[in-house]
Amino acid sequence: MLSRAVLILAVVISLTACQSKKKEINFPKTDLSAVALIPKPVKTVSTHSAFALDSNTVIFTSLADPKFEKAGQFLAEKVNARLGFDLSVNTTSEEKDIERVIYINQSDSISLKTPESYQLYIKKDSIYLNAKTAAGAFRGIQTLRQLIPEQSNDTLTNHPLWLIPTGKVFDEPQFEYRGAMLDVARHFFTIEEVKKFIDLLAYYKYNALHLHLTDDQGWRLEIKSWPKLTEIGGQSEVGGGEGGFFTQEDYKGLVQYAADRHMIIIPEIDMPGHTNAASLSYPFLHAGGKADKPRVRTDMKVGYSSFHARKDTVYAFLDDVIGELAELTPGPYIHIGGDESHVTKKSDYLYFVEKVEKIVLKHGKKAIGWNEIAQAKLDPSTIAQLWNEPHNAMKAASGGSKIIISPAKKAYLDMKYDSLSEYGLTWAGMIPVDVGYNWSPEDYVEGLPKNQILGIEAPLWSETISNSDELEYLAFPRAIGYSELGWSNPENRNWEDYKQRLAKQVPFLNRMKVNYYPSKQIDWVE
Ligand code: ACM
Repeated sequence: MLSRAVLILAVVISLTACQSKKKEINFPKTDLSAVALIPKPVKTVSTHSAFALDSNTVIFTSLADPKFEKAGQFLAEKVNARLGFDLSVNTTSEEKDIERVIYINQSDSISLKTPESYQLYIKKDSIYLNAKTAAGAFRGIQTLRQLIPEQSNDTLTNHPLWLIPTGKVFDEPQFEYRGAMLDVARHFFTIEEVKKFIDLLAYYKYNALHLHLTDDQGWRLEIKSWPKLTEIGGQSEVGGGEGGFFTQEDYKGLVQYAADRHMIIIPEIDMPGHTNAASLSYPFLHAGGKADKPRVRTDMKVGYSSFHARKDTVYAFLDDVIGELAELTPGPYIHIGGDESHVTKKSDYLYFVEKVEKIVLKHGKKAIGWNEIAQAKLDPSTIAQLWNEPHNAMKAASGGSKIIISPAKKAYLDMKYDSLSEYGLTWAGMIPVDVGYNWSPEDYVEGLPKNQILGIEAPLWSETISNSDELEYLAFPRAIGYSELGWSNPENRNWEDYKQRLAKQVPFLNRMKVNYYPSKQIDWVE
């Protein structure tokens, strides 16, 4: 390990020493600040020359934390796949004449204020990416990917060069939580479909994917102590399709895939309402009273199901379910739902939320719930997710809770763009691309201090969608805008500027075969 570190250091130093011997290339003038980066960084400084990325470029990383090397490998894989190179990480070859190096450096600089902060110093012969943590390095790597131009320059030397503009990028997120949600309950999505969504979100610096795993129409995660949840509850979905579920191995694979992109998975078990599939599997869970008797549901109604809130067996069941979930989930959060429990008596609802919150805490996790949970007395570690009731978000905040901002009218990815939209619903209104972008999560709830906002999340409910094409139609391009609302400072956000940058995402979206909605509000660059 040490000798490898010394070798890498020697290469980096000799590279710097050798510069005078190299033939100078006259690069065309570049402008780092004009590149269509999303989300927009805090600050860029252009120095107008170029780092010529080519097949001889080498990537080195700090070695003390193996996650830095892993981040370097992620960069190498992406560059190799896109440009047909064979770059490797932290390897040197005697024969190779190293002219340019990308160095991913673990730095203790006090100017790196958050775990996800990073700095890029791009010079003609080197790119230094500094970050405190591998998560910061990973975010910086996404910026670097966006800085690689579409076209190579084939005239400056005898082989193609991809000219990355020189200069500096100083960057950090404004919110620590930047999430999207996918409802795999109304329609089931395969592992490959979820992974593709994760890949797209990671490119825009998201760090959380919330999976809505259970609802009236289906239960989508294997629970070993209660197998009928998936044997019975996993076999249906909206519209009458066959449904499906993730085994625990599948789920662990998704958690790892997200972790490799420095994202967490937040699993949601929605309750006490939205529980028809669970009660169909185990009828003792069913509340009775005003709640509909459990049966296979393939319709889109809400608000008719409820767990029984006064039976010890229900809480024993939930202790098992949450225990297994906590074991499978390295991230700090478990989402307990809590929305639209219209047939649960208010006193039962409050009792239920407080009991379930304690179960989550007992298993070492923090609870997140939809804004209705603020009616209960919450532990300050519990997070309320605002979707329709700012007053309940304020109530949770006044008790010390942090808030995730997801207003349906602005941030629901399943609302139609306009009257021509093929997929989506309209109950919270239509959300064209500009409306999705032109608001401020930091100002959405009057009186809510910014330091009590954990971040922003864009939920995608799946009543009207059932595969990647349909998912992407609703999520893109709007999810790209929410990445900027979560990451970039308000001073750096501007619709006119953003829409030019968004238009230039087409080559990436095409490479990734994303079925984005070609909104007429954007002059898409083909
Ligand atoms: C919700 O949209 N029912 C949270």
